[in-house]
Amino acid sequence: MTRNVLGIDVGGSSIKAGLVDVDSGRLVGGLISAHTPQPSTPQAMMPVLASLAARLEGAVGGVGIAFPSVIKQGTARTAANVDHAWIGTDGAALAARALSRPALFLNDADAAGIAEMRWGAGRGFAGTVIMVTLGTGIGTALFCDGKLYPNTELGHLELNGMDAEKWASARVRTAENLDFPAWIARVNDYLKRLHDLLWPDLFILGGAVSERFAEFAPLLRSDAQLRPAHFAGQAGVVGAAMAAAEADL
Ligand code: BGC
Repeated sequence: MTRNVLGIDVGGSSIKAGLVDVDSGRLVGGLISAHTPQPSTPQAMMPVLASLAARLEGAVGGVGIAFPSVIKQGTARTAANVDHAWIGTDGAALAARALSRPALFLNDADAAGIAEMRWGAGRGFAGTVIMVTLGTGIGTALFCDGKLYPNTELGHLELNGMDAEKWASARVRTAENLDFPAWIARVNDYLKRLHDLLWPDLFILGGAVSERFAEFAPLLRSDAQLRPAHFAGQAGVVGAAMAAAEADL
């Protein structure tokens, strides 16, 4: 019997949702999405999550929600790219009420990393793995022998005197109109900083780099192995659903 679990990935500009067959890591049907309401307060977001969930029939069990914040016991503790009203909000409890099913809230990069470690680029890899998502911000997920150390937030390390995500994210590339070699040089500096600190055996690169990895690969440099993320834009949804299934809500 297939177990299709609902996964949702909340981003600064869009919210994606899908049903995931958690025994194969595959999305059943496509992803659906909606614009993130602005301001992106908890009250404004809940009806959007509920209407996305209502369009996906046949889900079993709880819902996994990937969110761009530090999440402790279901509560958001930071809000780098969403409304500050989220800080201190128990997103798991709010979503459980709005969606009428148990909800697991987790950091979006941690969710993406879970998808990659279970079914994607990190499957079966022993050692230290860092998943890096390069998008609006920089998200990170740290794994040792497949086990997640949650909420690492290494996108906010200091690099050249500033918050690393303000120096090397995909948003910065667009905002500063950097060409690819100039941007990848910044990404390389960032990966070196992570490597000096944590000595990973493998980096899994998600977001903008994974989508055009063949082009970027010749420019990327690291002492660790480098692999593109397998799931690209689906990783948060797949990983959130996997995490909800594993938590057995
Ligand atoms: C947030 C992280 C998040 C990352 C990617 C950062 O600004 O602090 O929690 O994982 O963006 O969305």
